[in-house]
Amino acid sequence: MSGGRRDEARAGARTQAVRVKTAKGRKISSTLWLRRQLNDPYVIEAQRQGYRSRAAFKLIQLDDKLRFLKPGMKVADLGAAPGGWTQVAVKRVHAETPGRGRVVGIDLIPWEPVPGAVCLERDFMDPLAPGLLKDALDGTADAVLSDMAANTTGHAGADHLRIMALVEAAYQFAQEVLTPGGVFVAKVFQGGAEHGLLAAMKLRFQSVRHIKPAASRKESSELYLVATGFR
Ligand SMILES: C[S@@+](CC[C@H](N)C(=O)[O-])C[C@H]1O[C@@H](n2cnc3c(N)ncnc32)[C@H](O)[C@@H]1O
Repeated sequence: MSGGRRDEARAGARTQAVRVKTAKGRKISSTLWLRRQLNDPYVIEAQRQGYRSRAAFKLIQLDDKLRFLKPGMKVADLGAAPGGWTQVAVKRVHAETPGRGRVVGIDLIPWEPVPGAVCLERDFMDPLAPGLLKDALDGTADAVLSDMAANTTGHAGADHLRIMALVEAAYQFAQEVLTPGGVFVAKVFQGGAEHGLLAAMKLRFQSVRHIKPAASRKESSELYLVATGFR
């Protein structure tokens, strides 16, 4: 294991718990959130290693397992803010080295550009977004990664539909840009992708699997669809 990867793996290490007192004016839910953040080893390790989000470790763990990010690749990162996955992708495809790799990220909220990546601020569901991404990628990508998550409304049925619409749009884009052998990674929830989508994906990829990386919180129904070997 290289020094960097060993460092990343240390994120699971135990740290001393930080206690948070309930402050006047702060809701109990906010105090609980703050306590969880301050005691979360991935939050602590993300700060130590300069990653913008604890989510960076989810991509690190998925890629450490399946090794789909390779030097020289072109990568699209959908739902990229604040930029943790983009940072990991830049590092692993060596996009900062001239002539090697390219990473293009997009998010609908404003985000600080990640050095070495093209960072777009736009709704991916905007009909112009796929074209902008394709221009920045010079037409093709070797990997399409989607960590997009719609804000939940509390209405399970409507939330599921919105989430599935994002996954399906990401998959549609992946089919348009992926090179042979390409990779598609997407965040899905609960029962994973719908049977129809999964069946369609199995026809286009050599391997399609669901993985829950250790950095994905146990109480969250989030998991990742990882499809490799696009044909
Ligand atoms: C879990 S966060 C991504 C974290 C990111 N992977 C990282 O490592 O920092 C999900 C992101 O998806 C974005 N998102 C949701 N719907 C989107 C859409 N339609 N177009 C672009 N981004 C979207 C949200 O704004 C949010 O920043």
